[in-house]
Amino acid sequence: MLQVFVTENYEDMSVKAAEEIAKQLIEKPNSVLGLATGSTPLGLYEKLIQQKLDFQAVKTFNLDEYVGLAPDHEQSYSYYMWHHFFSKINIEKSNVNIPPGIFTDEQAVTEDYENRIHEAGGIDIQVLGIGHNGHIGFNEPNSSLNACTHIVQLAQQTIQANARFFSSMEEVPKRAITMGMGSILKARKIILLASGEEKAEAINKTLNGNIDTSFPASFLQLHPNVTLIVDKAAAEVPVTPRNLSNRL
Ligand code: F6R
Repeated sequence: MLQVFVTENYEDMSVKAAEEIAKQLIEKPNSVLGLATGSTPLGLYEKLIQQKLDFQAVKTFNLDEYVGLAPDHEQSYSYYMWHHFFSKINIEKSNVNIPPGIFTDEQAVTEDYENRIHEAGGIDIQVLGIGHNGHIGFNEPNSSLNACTHIVQLAQQTIQANARFFSSMEEVPKRAITMGMGSILKARKIILLASGEEKAEAINKTLNGNIDTSFPASFLQLHPNVTLIVDKAAAEVPVTPRNLSNRL
């Protein structure tokens, strides 16, 4: 079931999300959290740091990573997580799990990540952001989606957009490793965050669209416990030629 919680702005979205995580950690200090990168959860991480919550027994699993980037590469998701969050809380390094960007055996690395989530007892709360095209993690729109952790080829558009962060085109990652929609849907609770009018259409489709691999976030409709925490701008149903007639 999808529940929607609409906040006034980005700040309040982050506060509300931090409250949900805090509640979880008080109920279960050794919770397993699924985490995302990107701009959306930065406010949440900031709030969690300010609250000085106890992360001593918490385990985390990140959604995704670029293939080919070492953890200390400034564009890696590992660097992002340590820079913005993990280095500022009392988490045990051994409890942090981020899909590795450097590996030799594709099958072994993806299976190992799934096994680690399973051995940790599964994810209690999975935090998600959403792409304009409905992507979740690196699960991009496609005619078929892979359920488990897997390697994806990045779209040419994404590679080009990322090029500005690298000194040469050769360095720009062409592939990523991501938890699959199946791995994500196994989480006991999912919190999807979105802010700003540019996410409004994606939020509308997540809630009301057909369940379809061409819009991966629509699969969240199949999960029994999803809360969308979105600000007013992202909750506003955009006026498109398709729904304009309903409004007149
Ligand atoms: C990042 C991730 C991505 C982002 C999405 C939204 O780990 O999984 O799916 O959540 O691209 O990104 P932002 O928050 O930057 O709009």
